[in-house]
Amino acid sequence: MSADLSARIRHPGLLDRITTPEAAAALIKDGMVIGMSGFTKAGDAKAVPVAMAERASTDPFQITLITGASLGHDIDRMLTEAKVLARRMPFQADPTLRKAINRGEVMFIDQHLSETVEHLRSRQLGPIDYAIVEAAAITEDGGLVPTTSIGNSASFAILAEKVIVEINLSQPLGLDGLHDIYIPSKRPTRAPIPLMACDSRVGTPYVQIPPEKIAAIVITNEIDSASSVQPSDPETSAIAHHLIAFFENEVKRGRLDLTLQPLQAGIGTIANSVLQGLADGPFHHLRLYSEVLQDSTFDLFDAGKLSFASASSITLSAPYAERVFGNFERYKDKLILRPQEISNHPEIIRRLGIIGINTALEFDIYGNVNSTHVDGTMMMNGIGGSGDFARNAYLSIFVTKSLAKDGAISSVVPMVSHIDHTEHDVDILVTEVGLADLRELAPRERARLIIDNCVHPSYRAQLDDYFARASARGGHTPHLLEEAFSWHTRRRETGSMKI
Ligand code: COA
Repeated sequence: MSADLSARIRHPGLLDRITTPEAAAALIKDGMVIGMSGFTKAGDAKAVPVAMAERASTDPFQITLITGASLGHDIDRMLTEAKVLARRMPFQADPTLRKAINRGEVMFIDQHLSETVEHLRSRQLGPIDYAIVEAAAITEDGGLVPTTSIGNSASFAILAEKVIVEINLSQPLGLDGLHDIYIPSKRPTRAPIPLMACDSRVGTPYVQIPPEKIAAIVITNEIDSASSVQPSDPETSAIAHHLIAFFENEVKRGRLDLTLQPLQAGIGTIANSVLQGLADGPFHHLRLYSEVLQDSTFDLFDAGKLSFASASSITLSAPYAERVFGNFERYKDKLILRPQEISNHPEIIRRLGIIGINTALEFDIYGNVNSTHVDGTMMMNGIGGSGDFARNAYLSIFVTKSLAKDGAISSVVPMVSHIDHTEHDVDILVTEVGLADLRELAPRERARLIIDNCVHPSYRAQLDDYFARASARGGHTPHLLEEAFSWHTRRRETGSMKI
């Protein structure tokens, strides 16, 4: 055995479980429920799912696949093309799987990310037959040291009948000690989660499972897929600018100080750009209590603006991955990765007073937000953690560009075609046009502000006209029901929402 491997598999009794991805994949049978690691392309199992897809070409089988969130390495694409996925939850972001979901071929359950393991634990879902999880190492007593994400992996491994571990040699051993695994106790006598600050450590640095549950160990050596976050553009920079001006004003009014409240920022380019923008503001000693740490986290550390970051995964572009993991000791004591039920836990989000910044596909004149369904029918990715944060945040902020598809779509519409976040859970809306602070406003006041501040000028008169005619008809939340979705149907019929 190589020295590298003995540092990775420290429990000597487990060395005989090392096998090939094909042999591990052969353990998976038709109809099984599989819990797999992976959260926003970080820390996913990389070899066994590929072998599962290959096996299905000669030996068809179907499974229910539960992960933390989206996967990298085209794994969802491969499993979809091999027709392995009967059911998939709680989040995905793969174009091939998305199409299969929208054709009705894969049953997708779009779930709040904090909730999945509660359902497993209470046997409303599952049981899990096999957990397939990536680890950086197995400790002397059989504990699993996770890699760049935890997601649902800890509970998958604890609750599964059997566990397949992928030891990834490309994941640095320096990750050991980064994680904080806390598993809430049983309800209804559950104790409060003793997490009082972003940097609280309340659990163990590894996942403790009986070593005899480990059915197979596969050795891999492949880095995480790089994030596809795009550089800031004039619109995302304008959104960041509006938000920073808003925070500065909140400080002036004595509602926040320059350290703000702990921040959560969603996935993607806009959220990354907004956080990057904070590096240029007057803020300092910022804290992140988020779900995913993107490139911007490390820009904020390097700018001396960020004190601590807690999340469930680290998802970086290729140059940032080299910079961060090549120099990990520089950041390690300012980071914690947690299970996603803890990073997204309503109790903690409410206790810490998180400022949640998430992205909308569209929002309406009263502040209802659609994050998931194009035209109310076609699934994009899923609600992810946005609902966990929006519902419980100190400030719930949604951002989006005012236009999509070269102006054929207005992201501000009379009535959203699907609601993920109701007007009751939305405080602030921001587009590149401007910001609407909806706090303590009645629906008619909200509509006025949203139309004046957030709508693209090319749609403003059209939306003004809708609101004026709806208001004349009356109601607390005025609408013309026969026209409320006419913008969406017009786009379907003519290619554009414009009259
Ligand atoms: N109608 C139809 N399509 C729209 C649209 C609308 N109102 N608004 C945006 N789109 C399209 C864009 O054109 C783009 O399409 P493309 O991929 O063909 O270019 C796509 O949706 C993505 O939009 P983009 O503006 O690039 O934003 P994004 O990459 O930041 O994604 C969400 C936006 C809403 C899809 C994404 O943030 C998401 O999945 N959110 C839900 C999960 C979540 O919020 N998690 C947060 C906790 S981490």
